Amino acid sequence: MDGVSPPRPEQKRVYCVTGATGYLASWLVRSLLERGHRVRGTIRNRAKAAHLTCLPGVEERLELVEADLLDEASLFLAVQGCDGVFAVAIPISDPSKDQSAMVELAMTCTMNLLRACHDSGCVKRVVLTSTFYASIQVPHDGNAPLDVDETFWTSVDYCLEKKMSFWGYMVAKTMSERAAFQFAEEKGLDLVSILPSLVGGPFTTPSLPGSLSVYLSAMTADVPVPIVEYMSYVHVDDCVRAHILLMEDMRTKGRYLCSACDATFWEVHRETIPLLQTFELPPPKLDVSTIDVMAKAFYKLNTTKLRELGFTYQFDTFRKICEDMVPCLLEKGYLKQGK
Ligand SMILES: NC(=O)c1ccc[n+]([C@@H]2O[C@H](COP(=O)([O-])OP(=O)(O)OC[C@H]3O[C@@H](n4cnc5c(N)ncnc54)[C@H](OP(=O)(O)O)[C@@H]3O)[C@@H](O)[C@H]2O)c1
Repeated sequence: MDGVSPPRPEQKRVYCVTGATGYLASWLVRSLLERGHRVRGTIRNRAKAAHLTCLPGVEERLELVEADLLDEASLFLAVQGCDGVFAVAIPISDPSKDQSAMVELAMTCTMNLLRACHDSGCVKRVVLTSTFYASIQVPHDGNAPLDVDETFWTSVDYCLEKKMSFWGYMVAKTMSERAAFQFAEEKGLDLVSILPSLVGGPFTTPSLPGSLSVYLSAMTADVPVPIVEYMSYVHVDDCVRAHILLMEDMRTKGRYLCSACDATFWEVHRETIPLLQTFELPPPKLDVSTIDVMAKAFYKLNTTKLRELGFTYQFDTFRKICEDMVPCLLEKGYLKQGK
């Protein structure tokens, strides 16, 4: 039992997925179509949607509509007639420029979509894709790992003080998720949020999804992404099944962390070496002397709440996630054998 069983004919629905061209959303669209639902995917640019047009069931059940999260009227039209909305899209401004700009943008976009869902009169539930970064950044002494569950909210003050990498994204996601729940409570909108960790696995998008560059960096150390000392991981297919479960299971309420495993750089490294050998790939070109050997866990994600719904992770280790991703990276030329 994985917590997501196929829908009966009378359970087939019309779902809107925002930002359908993106990594997670395109996988979600595909999964919803496979389950027999009708899907309305919002896109901004048809030229970027070619990878969606070859999915099974596309002609009969996928409608692509142009909508921008900054344009509330376009969102109102996009959600009309939908039973549920997966709020996946996020505008990300260039983090090397003004991180605080991301906060205002994310707030505006989230509230525009929620207002459209509320005003539509037809949307019964919204599943908002937040992130585990909206829960883990809280003041801590670092002595023992924090047991982080859904009651933890990232502290905006802490992020502003520490200005860690991607702090703008963390603050933007935290503040927009909080505002979304406040709006939902005031208006009586049924809202559930999902907080995935770093998503990995195969992809159909034309370019390498941002989160995969972190996985790739652990496998090759040859991409311009710094090695992460500690991270949490989830496979895209598990993440998508969790989204669907949260939309369809009427017991769900509030926030849900979604993550298969946490690992230090060294744990990842130990799993990666034999994996690369299996695929006849060279070991990472790492100067391990530059990496903090003391890298350790400052938190552990407690994902009991999702598991209590009957959800199980099919890819429950970093190695299993990578094993499923490597063939795709090879096929698209991001990994090369025999060097
Ligand atoms: N990937 C991860 O590891 C991860 C982990 C935790 C949470 N999440 C969350 O999951 C969601 C999807 O992430 P992802 O990695 O799949 O992102 P992605 O591949 O970068 O996709 C983002 C999507 O958002 C769309 N978008 C951006 N600005 C928009 C706007 N103003 N109006 C309408 N659409 C807009 C983009 O459209 P265009 O194609 O037109 O640019 C794109 O389709 C995000 O909310 C992210 O915070 C991701």
